[in-house]
Amino acid sequence: MNFEKNILCIGAGYVGGPTMAMIAWKCPSYKVTIVDINPSKIVQWNSDNIPIYEPGLYEIVKATRGKNLFFSTDIDKGIRESEIIFVSVNTPTKTFGAGAGMAADLQYWEKTARQIKNSAESPKIIVEKSTLPVRTALAMERILASPDSGIAFDILSNPEFLAEGSAVNDLQNPDRVLIGSRETPGGLKAREALVEIYTHWVPKEKIITSDIWSTELSKLVANAFLAQRISSINSISVLCEKTEANISEVARAVGADSRLGSRFLNASVGFGGSCFKKDILNLVYLCRYYGLDVVADYWEGVVRINEYQKERFVLNMLSTMFNTLAGKKICLFGFAFKANTGDTRESPAIYVARRLVEERAELVITDPRALANAETDLSDIKDRISFIEDPYRAAAGCDAIAVMTEWDLFSGLDFERIYTQMSKPCFIFDGRNILDHERLFEIGFNVFPLGKSALKHF
Ligand code: NAD
Ligand code: UGA
Repeated sequence: MNFEKNILCIGAGYVGGPTMAMIAWKCPSYKVTIVDINPSKIVQWNSDNIPIYEPGLYEIVKATRGKNLFFSTDIDKGIRESEIIFVSVNTPTKTFGAGAGMAADLQYWEKTARQIKNSAESPKIIVEKSTLPVRTALAMERILASPDSGIAFDILSNPEFLAEGSAVNDLQNPDRVLIGSRETPGGLKAREALVEIYTHWVPKEKIITSDIWSTELSKLVANAFLAQRISSINSISVLCEKTEANISEVARAVGADSRLGSRFLNASVGFGGSCFKKDILNLVYLCRYYGLDVVADYWEGVVRINEYQKERFVLNMLSTMFNTLAGKKICLFGFAFKANTGDTRESPAIYVARRLVEERAELVITDPRALANAETDLSDIKDRISFIEDPYRAAAGCDAIAVMTEWDLFSGLDFERIYTQMSKPCFIFDGRNILDHERLFEIGFNVFPLGKSALKHF
């Protein structure tokens, strides 16, 4: 079959997979190929057991795979055969050398740039989908435009705003699609080509076009603002606990102001996920690089509050349970960094689990989707941990439950049944405020919500 356009995506991860599946689904006349250096991931994408859990995604992949959506490890062929190349490789925090622990590690991204340059035989539009430091497109241009290349490349920035667990809906009904380009004739033409793809399903007024540096920076800033909201409410949660105020009431009152809005004000044990921390640290690093230490300190505070919130959760468990956790059995309800995903990257549960084991507690972890990742994350301490999918079996014999993830299933459990099978006195630490605290107290639990008074029988 002759396709109208050939699109390639390099990187078949949480962003590349869903984003390209959506394009293939909405644009049946385009051929979309996703390539990755990891062959086992490609095998999984080509199977009935796709590598990420995302509600609604498998159905879209099934409807398009083999028709106009293809997964492959042949990166060079993919580059040669496509006109538009999305780069969606990982950009983690650097763990070595200058900027270690702060700056973005651009090695995967640069390897891709060089591979595009070496394999391309015709002009290409290169789309930065990964989250990158502002002005990365300049480096991409310099690599691609070196004199021996002789091929025209136009670089666009098109950051992705999907959130895990709701990726399909976010992609289908985005708040906005942001596309940045150079203001040159080539840049503007490339921008129009990308706009055209999105207009297959996104209303035109939601497609924002801009200059390339503002676009790159907007992605980092959007994540920083979202994370800042969580750290803001979390910082107030501790004040609520000291003053008998109630964080849910404060969030309701504050969020009713239409200038602020009510979303993203749920106090929690801390934000997780592969991006918030890394993107803020990247922003902090950029600010320091430009000598803007006051600005850098401001944003670094968002991460500091998040670390504080996780540690204070553990210390609260320790002091509540009579200042010793040694030999106590604690059940973690949830391990994913949020509900509706199996992803555990930077999950606050990792930190809490490790700290509890440091205090010599024994752990049982239950999660409907993330147990395999949990086992990998904690492989070095797994002799102290059991991984049990059934929450009733998991909680049996435990001294305490700590809610780490806001899975709906947890609030629907029969807590009377759970209570009878636990050691007494028993405790619930609700790190997501999703349970019915009054009811749990009536059953007999000692209940410790976040940002609200504890309900104790002693
Ligand atoms: P991921 O780790 O799930 O996927 C990245 C993929 O790229 C991996 O499968 C890896 O094998 C592959 N890869 C690395 N180097 C490669 C190379 N040279 N050639 C081919 N493949 C290569 O990462 P992700 O979560 O999809 O994130 C990708 C980017 O998107 C990051 O910059 C991230 O900040 C950004 N982002 C992520 C999300 C999210 O929800 N996860 C949302 C918005 C933006
Ligand atoms: C986030 C952003 O929401 C996306 O727009 C962005 O594209 C993405 O990062 C990215 O760049 O990777 P994601 O991390 O998938 O998406 O999920 P969120 O819904 O933002 O949740 C992040 C963390 O904050 C989770 O641990 C969640 O439980 C926590 N959270 C969220 C709270 O603690 N309170 C809230 O009110 C909201």
